[in-house]
Amino acid sequence: MHSYNDLLKIINSELNKLNFDKEPQNLYQPINYVIKNGGKRIRPVLTLMSCELFGGDYKNAVSSALAIEIFHNFTLLHDDMMDNADVRRGNPTVHIKWNDNIALLSGDAMSIIAYKLISESPVNLTDILNTFSNTALNICEGQQYDMDFEDNPDVSEEEYIKMITLKTAVLLACSLRIGALSANAKQEDCENIYEFGKNLGTAFQLQDDFLDVYGDTNKFGKNIGGDIILNKKTFLLIKALKEAKGQDYQNLIHWINAKDFNNQEKINAVITIFNNLNIKEYTLQNMEKYYNKAYEIFDKIPIENERKKVVIDFAESLRRRDC
Ligand code: IPE
Ligand code: IPE
Ligand code: MG
Ligand code: MG
Ligand code: MG
Repeated sequence: MHSYNDLLKIINSELNKLNFDKEPQNLYQPINYVIKNGGKRIRPVLTLMSCELFGGDYKNAVSSALAIEIFHNFTLLHDDMMDNADVRRGNPTVHIKWNDNIALLSGDAMSIIAYKLISESPVNLTDILNTFSNTALNICEGQQYDMDFEDNPDVSEEEYIKMITLKTAVLLACSLRIGALSANAKQEDCENIYEFGKNLGTAFQLQDDFLDVYGDTNKFGKNIGGDIILNKKTFLLIKALKEAKGQDYQNLIHWINAKDFNNQEKINAVITIFNNLNIKEYTLQNMEKYYNKAYEIFDKIPIENERKKVVIDFAESLRRRDC
């Protein structure tokens, strides 16, 4: 089995082979910009890793791995427009560097490119296409819940978990399942690796919410406090709304309802409330819960531990991430 670093090199070199130096430039340059601009490449690496875990040749999973990474980048492009985000991976977002219409159409083109690539999968194509399409639709559902929740003051923890499962976790799960399908893995193994990915992805989004507040902008590559500005119903805000009493509660409601405000002032005030309520610790505990659930499921997969270690090491590196 290849290590994470080896697989990352393979993904980057395959991505570099894709040629987006085409006309019209206003359609293809933004695609080049996002694809060649880095990112952790977690999902395509998971696809190749899962393929090798189940004894497959990673080459059979390359086109689907690329499709998944391009699809992920497409969702980020539209997400940044929806979230009014100016910075991604330390650089201006596409709708800022170009404009909304360009971000819209380049994103559309990326989703089509992703479908072209996934349809080149050489093993188990029908199952792979089904997994991919169901996931793509799940992401749209999750993104709509995420937007709807901005204006909903009463989102439960359960509704939140459903939302992040859809918008984020299922793509990690899908990446692993497609890797397994490319290796012709047994159905039970495909199910288990999918459930492992779902829990890993849930932990991953909890961590993203956490880093949006407690991360370092230079490492995270996104503006800190973006979720606070938009009243995103992150785990942190939902928990704070539940736990806050007295003055903290009044202040929180004031900032959620405020229309005209200085962004930094709102961010500082809300973080102070989070700190008063130990929201940081609650969030980390919850994140740990999902990492541990993921490991419990992974344990059930009947493969020798030596092979499984690559996956566990990778998950552990995600658990420690600050970007
Ligand atoms: C960002 O995903 C969007 C979320 C689901 C939280 P990543 O953190 O994987 O983004 P990149 O691709 O590494 O930039
Ligand atoms: C990511 O949610 C979900 C998708 C892009 C589908 P976020 O909106 O939290 O992602 P970031 O923080 O902008 O990367
Ligand atoms: Mg979003
Ligand atoms: Mg966003
Ligand atoms: Mg986020």
